[in-house]
Amino acid sequence: MKKINIAIDGYSACGKSSTAKRVAQRLGYIYIDSGAMYRAVTLYLQHHLIDIDNLEGIAQALPQIQIDFRKAGEVFHTFLNGVDVEQEIRQPAVAAQVSEVAAMSNVRRMLVEQQQKMAAQKGVVMEGRDIGSVVMPDAELKFFMTADVDVRTKRRQDELLKKSGKLFPLEELKANLQHRDRIDSTREDSPLTRVPDAIEIDTTHITLEEQIQLICDKAMALIKQAD
Ligand code: CDP
Repeated sequence: MKKINIAIDGYSACGKSSTAKRVAQRLGYIYIDSGAMYRAVTLYLQHHLIDIDNLEGIAQALPQIQIDFRKAGEVFHTFLNGVDVEQEIRQPAVAAQVSEVAAMSNVRRMLVEQQQKMAAQKGVVMEGRDIGSVVMPDAELKFFMTADVDVRTKRRQDELLKKSGKLFPLEELKANLQHRDRIDSTREDSPLTRVPDAIEIDTTHITLEEQIQLICDKAMALIKQAD
């Protein structure tokens, strides 16, 4: 069967990861969480006490950073220089700085190159902010996900509670989502935008299962058509 690439972009915490992961499982495709890579770079800088204003320090650090995804049981985890950082990169301390790091062109150049290599064989579901516009402009299917900010905040709070057992205040999480959305949408290099060929999905009032089904149906129609 012919393989396609699927790009899913959108605002923070509107269900891109959960959707993309399950779509990839159903289609037997590879799932790539590009945001995890920006989070891993941010974590590296924090571990090495490299300030985000220290542009020279960051440029010197980049060649030392190796990120990959490895199977951990049923799922894939993000590894930073051989260490599983899947839990740590989701913490609010990383979220607090990741958009500033992701706005840097040298960081983006390094990660986009790796993402494009991963997508070269096709059969990839990749989610992020610039996937349909920069990383996979030729993707056969593109989606742009949105949702009401209060719904997104509550979902993020539930997700963090499940993962780390901590209940983070809604106001703090909402402020971070809005802060990141603003930086991600207004940065000079590869801002988050809806490309004209992307299908918009507002996930405020639909279930995760509905989101997954919608994307899988479109993907299957395209795959069959191409066969
Ligand atoms: O999970 P959430 O939607 O909150 O964010 P994420 O997908 O883990 O991405 C974290 C951050 O990485 C975003 O806020 C962006 O600043 C950056 N990012 C990016 O610039 N480009 C991408 N393709 C993916 C993420």
